[in-house]
Amino acid sequence: MSTSQANLNVIKKIAVSDLRPGMVISGYVCDWAGDPAHWGRKTIQQQGEIEKIRANGIEEVYIDTSMGLDVAHAPTLREVKAEAAQEIKKIGLWDNSRQQQEAAAASKSKSLQDELANARKVTDQARKVVAGVLTDVRLGKQVEIEPVREAVERMTESAFTNPGAILSLSLIKRKDEYTFMHSVNVGVFLMSFCQSMGMDREKIVQAGIGGMLHDIGKMKVPTEILNSPNKLTDAEFNVMKAHPTFSEEILRETDGISELSVQVSVQHHERFNGSGYPHKLEGNAIGLYGQMAAIVDVYDAITSDRSYHKGMISHEALEKMYEWCKHHFDLALFQQFVQCVGIYPVGSMVRLENQRVGVVVENHKESLLFPVVRLIIDAKKKCAIDPVTVDLLSKRNEQSFRIVDHESPSKWGVDPKKYMPRPELYR
Ligand SMILES: [Fe+2]
Repeated sequence: MSTSQANLNVIKKIAVSDLRPGMVISGYVCDWAGDPAHWGRKTIQQQGEIEKIRANGIEEVYIDTSMGLDVAHAPTLREVKAEAAQEIKKIGLWDNSRQQQEAAAASKSKSLQDELANARKVTDQARKVVAGVLTDVRLGKQVEIEPVREAVERMTESAFTNPGAILSLSLIKRKDEYTFMHSVNVGVFLMSFCQSMGMDREKIVQAGIGGMLHDIGKMKVPTEILNSPNKLTDAEFNVMKAHPTFSEEILRETDGISELSVQVSVQHHERFNGSGYPHKLEGNAIGLYGQMAAIVDVYDAITSDRSYHKGMISHEALEKMYEWCKHHFDLALFQQFVQCVGIYPVGSMVRLENQRVGVVVENHKESLLFPVVRLIIDAKKKCAIDPVTVDLLSKRNEQSFRIVDHESPSKWGVDPKKYMPRPELYR
């Protein structure tokens, strides 16, 4: 859905129960970013189409009131976005528990800059391992868990040396084969998520293994469906929806896999309101690690460039996911995820009160509203400035250094990678 300024006022969010023939759907309040069959505008012609939407577990949609019938009381896209942004910002005001602060302090034995090269190395190794495993499964070979475990242990070690380093490499996307990068990213996000919640190291490793292998069942889906550039038919989509079951089958035949890792793989498409698959589990019938996997899988999918859509920038993704919490995720768990990646995730762009625009290069876990920013643009004069790194935490009492808004890298023609400390490691 386009979010141009004009659209913000004419697009409204309504319940499916308010949908009527003559309305024009411009988007669905659900996370099926990867399902081309559900995109695009659609004019509702008859009641049966509404039933089909409801049968797919969708409870709310966006309508374009400039093209079809209106619902007077419904909130506009502008109002919906403003509420989401405000709610996410509130998470930055949380008083982090002492336990979390202690965990953050204990797990930072090197600076982000000093750990980055190692984080890059272990992430690249993990990518090779996952590519090998997925190819083996495609060829009908047995999965060997040991190389996966070793790769995840190395990544965990890096995360305990400095949690921000490896996380930043997954937040800032590279151009690469999607399936492999997505597998590694889901592993890294899940490990970071567990770590930020204070879980023990073995659980972090098991979650990382589950994340790396969560989509392994896709290797049993015919390639013409998996790589189809076209809209999937209902029958094809049903085959795709079997992939978590295939993942479970493969992992249950794998020696040395934990139940936690299996849970991640089989439950990562379950949704809190029971609209997910393969088992339509509801609420806490979905395990904690299954719920966490769902959040990180969606975040990585919607922030990645695919052949059929451009990845969202991080704050748009978090705002969308906040909306989806009403149906798809546990809100408290999503808020924990925001604590993990940050209100202003590394690689995102922000504008300060003094009209300087910069790239977020590091977050302070205990103070998410005041990240470290590389300032590069004067928004008032619309020109580049000599880059300067400012730790906003040290300026927290100066109003002119307060973050006033997110900015879009494409609006300023900026590639955030270039402004990271060690930019060569993000390429
Ligand atoms: Fe999946």
